[in-house]
Amino acid sequence: MPREQITTQKIHDHVSRLGDQHPPIPLSSVDRTVHNPRLVRERFGHTFDYLARVELEVDRNVLELLTLLPEVREVDRYFYEDVWQPQEIQHGIILDQVQQDLGMPAAEPLLEVPFNMKVLGALAHMSPVQDIARCMYYLTGASTERQATLAYNDLARYLKEMGEHELAVSVIGQIKRQEPGHFAFYQMSATQILTDGTLKPWQIWTIRSLRDYSYQLVGVDGKKEYLGDMGGVVVQLGLEDELETYAKDIGRLEARILWANKNGMEFPPYFLRALKESVDYYREVGIDRGQITTAA
Ligand SMILES: [Fe+2]
Ligand SMILES: [Fe+2]
Repeated sequence: MPREQITTQKIHDHVSRLGDQHPPIPLSSVDRTVHNPRLVRERFGHTFDYLARVELEVDRNVLELLTLLPEVREVDRYFYEDVWQPQEIQHGIILDQVQQDLGMPAAEPLLEVPFNMKVLGALAHMSPVQDIARCMYYLTGASTERQATLAYNDLARYLKEMGEHELAVSVIGQIKRQEPGHFAFYQMSATQILTDGTLKPWQIWTIRSLRDYSYQLVGVDGKKEYLGDMGGVVVQLGLEDELETYAKDIGRLEARILWANKNGMEFPPYFLRALKESVDYYREVGIDRGQITTAA
């Protein structure tokens, strides 16, 4: 149980602080100096491309949200429309510009809402389904934002080691400061809905089953090629031999609030399964663009 009850007012205050403290980053404010573009491209070009695509897909994510949450709560709308989308789209624009500076083609974001999402959206007009969809949205968001934070932390560290100070500090450093606040929003919202009595046991059971059945890493979106691309990011960030530690890091919250650490669970098994699948698929087929050089 939470130490203190999370109220909608507290979540609203958090969003309001995020908006005040983290205005969207203008492209013109970042120093995109690159000292050795060839090396950065070789080691992290693919990661830049993946992150740029995922960040630029924020506009599709908003459409998905509108589909999935037809009766959106004001605090959710406030977050995604006034604070989250304006920040994320700048992350995408900045990263996309960097990868073009590195001599790579622009990112190709997927902007169409998938069909299965539309079907779910039609069902979501029923209030018990709406609550399930809302909880799924928060859990997905928490996992996604945590992955973003970790990826940016690793990337900034490697870039610094390579002497790419501007990319590490001015580009990735600025972006990565905005991600933990997004995670906190989803964490608070998921904790609230899972502890305030909104959900009946059958709804929680359904959410657990859906997470187990459909969990995907950030940006995979049910597409095989993106699964391999994600595996490539895991490899470039040197996480291939630490998948369990990584699964723990991104799955800890969900193990606690959705599964109540059942049987000593440190992370839900589907986190590690998804990571292994992505690396295996990458090893099998590689990626579309560029070559991978491990970061280690
Ligand atoms: Fe972002
Ligand atoms: Fe984010």
